[in-house]
Amino acid sequence: MTEPDASSGHGTTRRRLLFGGAAAGLGAAVALTTDRAAAGQAAPVPDTTGINGAVAHLFHGAHQSGIATPVASYASFVALDLNAGINREALRRLMRVLSDDAARLMEGRGALADTEPELATVPAGLTVTFGFGPGFVKRADGPTPAWLAPLPAFGIDDLNEAYSDGDLLLLVSADDQVTVAHAVRMLLKDARSFATLKWRQDGFRRAYGSEVSGTTMRNLFGQVDGTTNPNPGTPTFDKVVWSTDGWMAGGTSLVLRRIRLNLDTWDEVDPTGRSFSVGRDISTGAPLTGSRESDEPDFEATTPAGHTVISPVSHIARSRPVEPHEVIFRRGYNYDVPPSGDGVSESGLLFASYQADPVRQFVPIQRRLDEADLLNTWTTPIGSAVFAIPPGCSAGGYVGETLLA
Ligand code: HEM
Repeated sequence: MTEPDASSGHGTTRRRLLFGGAAAGLGAAVALTTDRAAAGQAAPVPDTTGINGAVAHLFHGAHQSGIATPVASYASFVALDLNAGINREALRRLMRVLSDDAARLMEGRGALADTEPELATVPAGLTVTFGFGPGFVKRADGPTPAWLAPLPAFGIDDLNEAYSDGDLLLLVSADDQVTVAHAVRMLLKDARSFATLKWRQDGFRRAYGSEVSGTTMRNLFGQVDGTTNPNPGTPTFDKVVWSTDGWMAGGTSLVLRRIRLNLDTWDEVDPTGRSFSVGRDISTGAPLTGSRESDEPDFEATTPAGHTVISPVSHIARSRPVEPHEVIFRRGYNYDVPPSGDGVSESGLLFASYQADPVRQFVPIQRRLDEADLLNTWTTPIGSAVFAIPPGCSAGGYVGETLLA
């Protein structure tokens, strides 16, 4: 089951293109070197180590980008509600425009009517992923997958509509926040005669270049979060994530949960208690029965007093699959916003998981966590949304064409 989280890696394993400004810059440097060499002078070589601004992902393909592509440092989840009167024909126009914008921006070119094309020249690994809520599929007169509906209510939930649901999702991620801000603005401008902003949730991980490639992310509790996760490019990942049904074939679903972490009460817990609640060592991420993050947990191992080393109500004991199909791909982000009350912080996790069928794969895990999970002492889900992420498209096509064409 356990596969290392390659999704968090930045580096040579990324399928990326280098072009645009940086490539032109390197070309110029080479020409300069040749001229200087001819003149017998020492050549200044630009140091591009660690610069990934010119790196681009492909928009076109069987799957949308932003799911199996390496995870970027910043993400903006933006939900829109469709305006009255927007029908199937209008949705087709909307998705054509947005797909064209996304393809251009991901390549480092301005969107068609880009008002600040200067900002588009640094794609920084930009990905744009579109998701459809139940309202979108209804307006498209399409068949709604049985799972495309709000999740069932859970006892631990304290949901706020301001972070929940929505008709259309724009998920924009990149290793640079200027890129994210520009792409979000371009897409929203082109969508504004069709839809209205419902909510926007911004998340982050460590900045690109700040730690070794492939390091599993830490959430704001300090926990290593994302160890046991299917690995993109493996048969397990393909089976867990990609749908094979009708217009969704090659697509997936997103469950987005805004989960508040109560850092003020977590502060009162010592490292032993912190490790016990998850079943993994807080500093290394290793299971309490092992020494390395990649070690397989032993849920049977007992202490001399006869208790299991990993508590049966620890987070990993409760979230492990009971049935083999109960596997999801987690790809979340941290959030940190100004506190509204008198607490020091308002922080948490934009828990994001991808799976072919959330009712079959996500809900049983969430039900178990709802019944018992030590982590619930310090966490509260405050937002919830489910989106269908349709398959990708080829050049000249648009995302959503399998539903709208
Ligand atoms: C604030 C909420 C949450 C926090 C802080 C959190 C944190 C963690 C941590 C630290 C781990 C152990 C390392 C790892 O394998 O990633 C983990 C594992 C896991 N979590 Fe969560 N998690 C949260 C919510 C959820 C939710 C809502 C779900 C799904 C309903 C979930 C599903 C899982 C799964 C499937 C694993 C792997 C279990 C295994 O070892 O097989 N988590 N989580």
